[in-house]
Amino acid sequence: MPPSVQEPPRYSVVAATSAEDRAQAFDVRVTVFVVEQLVPQEEELDAWDDTAYHFLALFHSSGAQEAVGAARLVVLAGGAGKIGRVAVLRRHRRHGVGRLLMAAVEAQARRLGIKSTKLDAQLHAIPFYEALGYSAEGPVFLDANIEHRLMRKQLHAT
Ligand code: COA
Repeated sequence: MPPSVQEPPRYSVVAATSAEDRAQAFDVRVTVFVVEQLVPQEEELDAWDDTAYHFLALFHSSGAQEAVGAARLVVLAGGAGKIGRVAVLRRHRRHGVGRLLMAAVEAQARRLGIKSTKLDAQLHAIPFYEALGYSAEGPVFLDANIEHRLMRKQLHAT
């Protein structure tokens, strides 16, 4: 029997702490939200970006890596955690990248002592967040002319 070859993981998520990583995360967001979803760029990149924790998903192939996803965690006044700008480039969707991003953001929230996270979910993304333990509440509302609902999750220690 030939020795089994362990495939390296194709996707990883890093905290985007360097200016370069942040710029790549912003590029992904612009591609997804501004180019694909037609959100005005001045609404997509906002003042919360200055203080948010940013995350970048990378695709590893043939020794190279490509930025393919992004998300951010905003710590609101009072200490609540708000997740946002969760985006995966179209050709990399349904490969678990969104799930990896959310796990990294929630791990950061736990490290900060945050007990629950909330987010504004586009209606089409509700099944994605439900699969990760979020529950929708309240009415549908418009943000950047896109229908959303509030979703929340209690974070438990892992
Ligand atoms: N419909 C139903 N369930 C979905 C789904 C969809 N479109 N996308 C993901 N899920 C669920 C599935 O249960 C999936 O697990 P499975 O693939 O084993 O069935 C699970 O969520 C995890 O999916 P994953 O592959 O990690 O998600 P993704 O990498 O495709 O990212 C988004 C999901 C929403 C981030 C991605 O579709 C995206 O970037 N969309 C455009 C930007 C956007 O609308 N962001 C959300 C703003 S609120």
